[in-house]
Amino acid sequence: MSGCPENRSGIRRIGILTGGGDAPGLNAVIRAVVKAAANCKCETIGLEDSFDGLIEADRSRPLTPKDVTGILRIGGTILDALVVIGGDGTLSIAHEFHLRGIPLVGVPKTIDNDIVETTNTFGFDTAVSFATDAIDRLHTTAEAHHRVMVVEVMGRYAGWIALYAGVAGGADVILIPEIPYDVDIVADRIRARDQLGARFSIVVVAEGAKPMGGKASVLKEASGEFVERLGGNAIRVAAELETLTGKETRSVVLGHLQRGGAPTSFDRILATRFGARAVELLLDGQFGTMVAFHPPDIVAVPLERIVGRTRNVPLDFDVVRTARAMGISLGA
Ligand code: F6P
Repeated sequence: MSGCPENRSGIRRIGILTGGGDAPGLNAVIRAVVKAAANCKCETIGLEDSFDGLIEADRSRPLTPKDVTGILRIGGTILDALVVIGGDGTLSIAHEFHLRGIPLVGVPKTIDNDIVETTNTFGFDTAVSFATDAIDRLHTTAEAHHRVMVVEVMGRYAGWIALYAGVAGGADVILIPEIPYDVDIVADRIRARDQLGARFSIVVVAEGAKPMGGKASVLKEASGEFVERLGGNAIRVAAELETLTGKETRSVVLGHLQRGGAPTSFDRILATRFGARAVELLLDGQFGTMVAFHPPDIVAVPLERIVGRTRNVPLDFDVVRTARAMGISLGA
């Protein structure tokens, strides 16, 4: 058994490109595409610098299974590479290319987990795992000094990383963009913990979290082709909590550390399945689609369903209810 599906589309050469920020598991997708393509007697060409690699002559190179040996566990990207791997922006561009007749399949990549129509993007699990480890470490120092530790995680306008890492790490408060918070409610929770003898607290704040009637803290406004840069939420929340509770408070920003390092086994398997399925879809002629995780299956969804949408945490989502059942304050 070769494991190779019937090549209905007659494709013999597959280009691969990545766009946007890096995410753990990117190399695992590239490796899977190259191996699955080689298994079906197809060549893979790596395209550098995202869509530029399609246009400029010297920005592409063939990739063989030998080139991708040993990269499964490596973070980052070995090329900017028509399998298109990216977040919502890159996938929207891929959709435009598809409408202009370019045969392609998308693969959802972002640590933020905010792409619609898929339960998971690759990179998310690794980011959550890193943030959980950080929260574990903050627990001991918070307890030792009877402090409030406010830790800011990424996620853009979605609270997936904060919610998952906060629940996994046993945070006392989790603030996510989907639930605007009241800082007085957060301060009440910290005081209540003190009264119970738990004289430290861990607050996880998503970079996109915002106070009721207010806005998330922004480091740089959007301008031209550049999007708004979020940041500063932890410092702001920490300062407010110190004033309200009188407790010593510190802030930590996990930042780009969440995007680096080796992917978790979950992300490696997901990325490998995404890459292999993307090749199957190309060979089957199912263009203009994105591979998606609908547990336990990897399925194809039309790219047009992805464009212009963000996957937010639903307010009635089970993990939200679980957080509340654990006594975690969501600030409202
Ligand atoms: O989309 C991934 C992400 O890491 C977000 O969580 C974060 O807001 C943004 O990218 C940071 O982008 P940059 O790499 O431009 O700092």
